Formats: sequence, C-alpha cells, structure tokens
Amino acid sequence: MTTVKQLLAEKGHTVWTIDPDKTVLDAIRLLAEKDVGALVVVDGDRPIGMFSERDYVRKVYLKGKTSPTTLVREVMSTPLVSVGYDHTTEQCMAIMTNRRIRHLPVIEDGRLVGIVSIGDLVNSIIREQHQIIEQLENYIHS
Ligand SMILES: NC(=O)c1ccc[n+]([C@@H]2O[C@H](COP(=O)([O-])OP(=O)(O)OC[C@H]3O[C@@H](n4cnc5c(N)ncnc54)[C@H](O)[C@@H]3O)[C@@H](O)[C@H]2O)c1
Repeated sequence: MTTVKQLLAEKGHTVWTIDPDKTVLDAIRLLAEKDVGALVVVDGDRPIGMFSERDYVRKVYLKGKTSPTTLVREVMSTPLVSVGYDHTTEQCMAIMTNRRIRHLPVIEDGRLVGIVSIGDLVNSIIREQHQIIEQLENYIHS
C-alpha cells in the first residue's frame, strides 16, 4: 500500500499557503496563478484552515460578498483535517469521502510538509492497481 510519504516523494513537498488576513481576492489570484484548487491557511507558521474554490463559490459569491473586502479568515474551512506521512492512500481517500473534502495537508511534528489532493490519490491508486493486475497476469502466464 502506498503511503503519503511515498506519494510526496514522487510529487514533491511544495505547499501553497495564504495568510488568514489576506483578502479572498488575493487567495483566488493565487489559486489561479498556481493552478490549484485549495490553499492551506497559515497563521505565522501554524496551519489553521483551508480555503478552496468551493469556499469561494459557496461562502463568498453565493452570499453576495465581494472578494476584495472579505478576509480569508472569515470564509476558510475549519477545523483543519490533516494526515501524516504514515497514512495510506486508501485511508486518505476514506477521510476525504467521509469529510467531503478534496485536499489534505500533511503535517509531521507540527510542521506542514506537503498536501495531497483527490486527484493525487486517484492517480496513485489506479497506478497501484495496474501494477497488481500486471503481476497477476505475469503469474498466470508463467
Ligand atoms: N498531471 C498530474 O500529475 C495531476 C496530478 C493531480 C491532479 N491532476 C488533475 O488535476 C485536476 C484536479 O486535480 P485535483 O482534484 O487533484 O485538485 P487540484 O487541482 O487542487 O490539484 C492539482 C495538483 O496540485 C496539487 N495542489 C493542490 N493544492 C495545492 C497547494 N495548496 N499547494 C501545493 N500543491 C497543491 C495537488 O496535490 C495536485 O498534485 C484533475 O483533473 C486531476 O486529474 C493532474
């Protein structure tokens, strides 16, 4: 089973973050610039929440708020749901399904060390299943 540590070793440890006192306009600009669906909200060096495209649509746009005058802290999702290096891709998928979220920050010893998205997990699980099928086919034909 693939662990978060293995997944991050392949995809990298970069995490795009935003300060809670930045505006939603700053946040959606960063989402677009980095081509990602969510940002970890970090206060100093403490991860405290998530700000996602879904938060923007539901808590800003549909509520008639404006992005230059709304702060990230007003609309971010809390409490932060995170995983550690030892979680498996299957465990992450279960957490995402149960909590209805698409991004999981990775926290080790209180430090933000990565992020996994639903796309990362789907890709990894599909790759793993292909390998198992290949191994079984080789076994059958040997
Ligand atoms: N080409 C690839 O390697 C790749 C990897 C993942 C997803 N995708 C595709 O992108 C689309 C949406 O992907 P998604 O649902 O995974 O969400 P997403 O668009 O938020 O994530 C895309 C990639 O960016 C990373 N990412 C997301 N937020 C980040 C952040 N704050 N800091 C650093 N990295 C961050 C994710 O881990 C993922 O690797 C899907 O169509 C998916 O298939 C492609």
